[in-house]
Formats: sequence, C-alpha cells, structure tokens
Amino acid sequence: MNAQTGPSLLVDNIGELVTNEPYGEGGPLGIRRRAAVLIEGGRIAWIGPAKYAPAADGRIDADGAAVLPGFVDSHSHLVFAGDRAAEFGARMAGQPYTGGGIRTTVGATRAASDDTLRANVSRLRMEALRQGTTTIEIKSGYGLSVTDEARSLRIAGEFTTETTFLGAHVVPAEYADRPDDYVGLVCGPMLRAALPYARWIDVFCERGAFDADHARAILTVGQDAGLGVRLHANQLGPGPGVRLAVELGAASADHCTHLTGADIDALASTKVDWVSGAEPVTVATLLPGAEFSTRSPYPDARRLLDAGATVALATDCNPGSSYTSSMPFCVALAVREMGMTPAEAVWAATAGGARALRRDDIGVLRRGARADLTLLDAPSHLHLAYRPGVPLIRQVLHNGVPQCQ
Ligand code: NIG
Ligand code: FE
Repeated sequence: MNAQTGPSLLVDNIGELVTNEPYGEGGPLGIRRRAAVLIEGGRIAWIGPAKYAPAADGRIDADGAAVLPGFVDSHSHLVFAGDRAAEFGARMAGQPYTGGGIRTTVGATRAASDDTLRANVSRLRMEALRQGTTTIEIKSGYGLSVTDEARSLRIAGEFTTETTFLGAHVVPAEYADRPDDYVGLVCGPMLRAALPYARWIDVFCERGAFDADHARAILTVGQDAGLGVRLHANQLGPGPGVRLAVELGAASADHCTHLTGADIDALASTKVDWVSGAEPVTVATLLPGAEFSTRSPYPDARRLLDAGATVALATDCNPGSSYTSSMPFCVALAVREMGMTPAEAVWAATAGGARALRRDDIGVLRRGARADLTLLDAPSHLHLAYRPGVPLIRQVLHNGVPQCQ
C-alpha cells in the first residue's frame, strides 16, 4: 500500500474497455480488449493488457464484461418539490407541452423545506448513480426569487461541483406584467446571491420564456462575473438560442430540437483552438428524454454529427418535461430515434458530457483521469441500446470507490 494514495484497486479481466482515447484499432471509443485498470488515490494509475496487470491491494473481477467511463449527465434540474404526473397524463391524452407547468413546480419548491429539497436531490442523485452516472450537473430554476435561487444552488452544491444558475427559467407570476424588472432582478441581486454557489449560468431562451435580448443581457453579466455559459435553446420551436450560444462561446447549447441549417453550421464551426489552447466549442447537448416525455419530434443527431458538431447526451431530469435520471435510457433513445450509432451515443453520454462541462478529467479512461468507471452486466457497450430498459449496470466506481450496488 502506498502511504500517500492509500490502498490500490485493480479492475481485472475486462472483456471490452471503453476508454474514449484513440488506441490502435479501438475506433472512436478507444476500445481495448482483455484489459485491466489500476486505481490509486481515486485516479487511474495504469491501463494495460490484463495479462500484465500489476499487483494491487484489492481486486474486482469484471469477468469478461464491458467497462465504460461513468456517464456524465451534463443537464439536470434536480432541485424541486412535487411532481407533475397528472400533466404528463394529460399530454399523453393529447395536450401539448408549453413549459407552463414550470410555475406549478416553482410554487411547490418555494413552499418546501430545505430538508425536503435535499432529500429529493439525494434520492435522484442515488437513482442516477445506480444507473452509472458519476458526474451530474444540477440547475436551479424552480426558486425564481433571490433567496429561493440561492437556496436551490446551495443545496445543489452539496451534491455536485457542476452547479448552474437558472434564475431565467421563466418569468415568475408576480413579475408577469413587468418582465424587464425581473431581468433586472436576475442580473443584479439574484446573480450576486447565486455567485458563491454557481459555476455556470443558463437561460431558457424560448418564446414564452426569455427572448434573445434578455438572454444575451443575462448571460453576459453572468459571464463577466466569472460564470461559464450554457443555454436552453431551440427546444419548442426554431429561434435565436443556438446562434446566441455560439456567439457567446457557450460550453453547450441544450435541446437543439428545432434547428435550421444555419444553426447546425454555427455549432459545427466551433472548434478547439489548438494554437491558443482555448476551447470555444459549443457542444450540442441533446435531451431525448424530453422528446419522449412531451411526445415531440426528436432532434436530428445524425445531421449534427455529419456536419462535424460535437454532440452530448443528457437526461434533463426534471418533473415536467423529462422525469428520468437514466443515461442508459437516453443512449437507447438516441440510437433508436436519433440516428446515432451505439458508439456515438456512448461517446456522447460520457466524453461528450465532459466536453459540455469543459472537463478533461472525466468521461475518459486514461492515466491520471478520475477513476469513475461503470461495469456492465454485458460483454459490450452495444447492449446499452440493444437491451433497452434492462438494468445492465453491475457496479459503479466513483473516484475509485465502489458505490451503492
Ligand atoms: O429543460 N425547458 C425548460 N426547462 C425544462 C423543463 C422544465 C419543466 O417543465 O419543469 C427543460 O425541459
Ligand atoms: Fe432543461
């Protein structure tokens, strides 16, 4: 045992190791066969052929199964109270989704105690972890007052470092006839109260929520205060959101359901600048749980990928438009409904999510990366889409520590 890093752990006998690192004939997923991974101090210390695996203090026998980087869910709204099952039922009977139910959840969230909100986030975080999610982004957005937004972010921060201030989710009822005043509140006192707890800022840029001018004003002031930018864009109809995200150098444009050719070109034009090292890539984060749950047409992932855009998959877990915490479900939907190959979908749910959060220590299995691993009850990543709805996650390691299986 190393005195500095503590006991080492060997994950051995891996039939298919998805690294997301270029490797020989391993394709875009960087697949290695008959591999082993050594973990020390919560990080990956060594990857190689199982037959050359070094000795370790502990051992997990993968027994020929597939091992992936833990899923990176880069878009969720876990801080809320109540649910909207009746609204879902009405939708499945023909009602459209408009986002109007957000205000119902705002009422329930404001009325809930800290402990109730914390228990709900904890329940959903565990649910996600059991399905292989080792990193999750969590937004505020159901408080919509200075104190309730700060409280939502404080509670989110107990579960993740990837916290997002979404005070501009919708204009709350008490500001319905003076939206400019609400934008002033978001840009001033609400942002100041959110800053200690937030890493990102987001706006729901959509007809009925915030237009491009309001969104630009809010995101710019957040960016100037040091927050990274992400944006709900083009979910319910075509609009300026995606192009605004690219204009501002956002890490991610999320939903991307209704895109024009110009939107796709704008996303595809964002590339890592290898000279300066800057990363102005705006990832197209697709959220198929929302289309499933609102019975809407799915985004055209194939067109985005063929144009050269970077695509991520995430759950959008929230009580209105997408009440799922399951990344395997999103992978299966993306393959069946959005023209993605299983390899593209697995990459988007791991490395793609990491790019959308501008992280290079997760979503990838290489020496020095976080030891966030998902062991499947299956011999290949293909099974995630091939066997939809089946609980295929056998074990999850987060920072090298076995979790709740
Ligand atoms: O990403 N579209 C905006 N926000 C959420 C839905 C929120 C809700 O319906 O409660 C989304 O889909
Ligand atoms: Fe969302």
